[in-house]
Amino acid sequence: METPFIRIKNLHQAFGEQEVLRGVDLEINRGETMVILGASGGGKSVLVKHLPGLMRPTEGEIWVGDVEVTKLREREMGPIRHQIGMMFQGGALFDSFTVFDNVAFPLREESDCSEAEVQKRVTEALEIVKLGKHANKFPSDISGGMRKRVALARAVVDMPACIIYDEPHAGLDPMTADTIDRMIKSLQTNHGITNIVITHEIRSVFRIADRVVFMKEGLVYWVGTSEELKHSDDKLLRDFIEGNAQDD
Ligand SMILES: Nc1ncnc2c1ncn2[C@@H]1O[C@H](COP(=O)(O)OP(=O)(O)OP(=O)(O)O)[C@@H](O)[C@H]1O
Ligand SMILES: [Mg+2]
Repeated sequence: METPFIRIKNLHQAFGEQEVLRGVDLEINRGETMVILGASGGGKSVLVKHLPGLMRPTEGEIWVGDVEVTKLREREMGPIRHQIGMMFQGGALFDSFTVFDNVAFPLREESDCSEAEVQKRVTEALEIVKLGKHANKFPSDISGGMRKRVALARAVVDMPACIIYDEPHAGLDPMTADTIDRMIKSLQTNHGITNIVITHEIRSVFRIADRVVFMKEGLVYWVGTSEELKHSDDKLLRDFIEGNAQDD
């Protein structure tokens, strides 16, 4: 069997007295969509920030392919951050930049991308999220769902091998959430991208997930396929699926 694309080994993270991650072990395969579930504050966002080296663990290892990210210095992170794109919780768009310039930002940060190449790739990314017509608007002039799609285009523009989506459905109506799901799934199917999706949206889980990991109190509580999740008789998982333990 192929070695997993991303390996998380015994990952610990603490902020002062608070132990947020307490020994997470998890493997993500190349080309799969892995959904991360779990109660609010359980450490999901903190966990994924370690993958492109945006956070340093207090203990443990992260491997991306055969590179140990946790051993790299900040200035050696470039190639890893090219491989792992991130759609942040909340979008994190620049208000004073147009949609186009927001999406272009990661490319322009890299000096080796010509302006013609930037134009081409941003246009393609905006096409994927169906925002071609809105390239010159500012984030304040588009809807919340559209802002999410801009954030998605920005994560996609570099065509990374893996994209992490931190709550891409939050605050969206069901139809817009569907659209986002179709885009996420199409990136996997048509571009071979490995997807890691944090969500509280149970409908989306069964639409997009190949596998699901359920986090609880800084540990992996359960991991399995979405089919296994559907048929699980674990009380906590059932409560989650049936909406008895929704977030916040
Ligand atoms: N930079 C930080 N400094 C101090 N504490 C932090 C920091 N980042 C996260 N935390 C704490 O770590 C805990 C886990 O946060 P995290 O954002 O990972 O939760 P989450 O599972 O993503 O929750 P949600 O579903 O609400 O997004 C929280 O108690 C949070 O306050
Ligand atoms: Mg979070």
